[in-house]
Amino acid sequence: MSIDLNAKIPNNVNLHEDKKLQRALEHWLPNYLSWWDEVGPEGFQTSDIYLRTAVSVDSGGWAHFDHVKMPDYRWGIFLTPNDGNKTIQYGDHIGEKVWNDVPGEYRKELRRLIVTQADTEPASVEQQRLLGQTAPSLYDMRNLFQVNVEEGRHLWAMVYVLHKHFGKDGREEAEELLTRRSGHVDHPRILQTFNNPMTNWLDFFCFTMFTDRDGKYQLGALAESAFDPLARSCQFMLTEEAHHLFVGETGIRRIVKRTCELMKEVPDGDVTKVGGIPLEVLQKHINHWFSSSMDLFGGENSSNAATYFSSALKGRFNENDRKRHPNATALEEDYSYTTVDEKGYVKTVNIPLRRAMNAVLLDDYVTDCTRALDKWNRTLEKAGVDYRFYLPTTKFHRNVGIYAGQNYTPDGTQILSDAEYKRHCEEVWFPTKEDKEYIDSLMVSVTEPGKFANWIAPPTRGINAQPLDFEYVKFH
Ligand SMILES: [Fe+2]
Ligand SMILES: [Fe+2]
Repeated sequence: MSIDLNAKIPNNVNLHEDKKLQRALEHWLPNYLSWWDEVGPEGFQTSDIYLRTAVSVDSGGWAHFDHVKMPDYRWGIFLTPNDGNKTIQYGDHIGEKVWNDVPGEYRKELRRLIVTQADTEPASVEQQRLLGQTAPSLYDMRNLFQVNVEEGRHLWAMVYVLHKHFGKDGREEAEELLTRRSGHVDHPRILQTFNNPMTNWLDFFCFTMFTDRDGKYQLGALAESAFDPLARSCQFMLTEEAHHLFVGETGIRRIVKRTCELMKEVPDGDVTKVGGIPLEVLQKHINHWFSSSMDLFGGENSSNAATYFSSALKGRFNENDRKRHPNATALEEDYSYTTVDEKGYVKTVNIPLRRAMNAVLLDDYVTDCTRALDKWNRTLEKAGVDYRFYLPTTKFHRNVGIYAGQNYTPDGTQILSDAEYKRHCEEVWFPTKEDKEYIDSLMVSVTEPGKFANWIAPPTRGINAQPLDFEYVKFH
């Protein structure tokens, strides 16, 4: 399954064999480009960016690196190859062949899953559109644009599935994906987290660490779908997504490292005197981005989640790993959680495992976030700093699911009165207006190769084995 890179729309799906679909997508292409021009990265469209482009879908060696102008990026349609013999491995259809077409009875649900995922891709590009202007280095600027063009490609991946498999409504949905706007009053993006503008790089790193990581788990679950074109699209998207998570996780780690260095320069450790980001402010950002990203998983006790699993539209993360998920039907097994009843007594609730699929996915996500947090804490330890970051519990500050509206503290041990809770949210747990103004004030554009803004340490190595002072972006 080779990639036709010279086609107007690069692809490995033999697009030239389906003239009607090819024409429809070639009609969508200029609309996509004008969307990119209007709300994609502001400025830098004529600069040469050191970007990787997919040139093959084989595992390993699929990426080609070169200086490219963003509008000339080879957006395209790439699906992980299949062997043609796949069968469904979980839910109610175990043993049946995977579907190459949308089954009529699941059309509505599949369309909803695909459109919701698809909408996040252009939304994040819109949210991040101003960040290039305050990039802390050429290395970081290049990473931002890499993330942006790949989110654009993820939109292509989903639009292909909509166009090919959902007829007229698919084409209408594809148009809508280019007309909704992040933060627009009348026509916003579907999920609330994707409607907040991003004004600084700390938010960008938190987004790629926590919110893109939700994307990893959603894509991982859809990569198990019995609707094979969706599964294969998501499998390839995941290979690109890994870089986005790397950008976020290492971005925060580099801030932690730099803050530790700066703490040694001031006797009282107050790094705001020397232009650093205080560890407490970082913790507040973790609280904010982690809790809002958890809401993206949906309710922990969900009939939709049960339907998606039983119909094999969406599996668990690494569904086919039977060591992790020994029960392929997820029947006769419960999921339990603790909450409080109306009188305030703690109670344990058992629900059928199928209804808890969002919670199961969320648990995997939390484990992954904990691993990253441990790494940041090791950076602190190595620097001889006593402070440690914590990850709030899944009960903290939720707007969706079984803990929505409950006033849990971040450690999950207490429920506060409304007034106390509000005060803690405003003053202690989340970034204050002053914190935000301070972080925004640190954002300066650093464009000299090999130089980094004062608030962040350089990475340990460059992109594609290039040196740190490589000209990752050439301005024109
Ligand atoms: Fe994406
Ligand atoms: Fe991403």
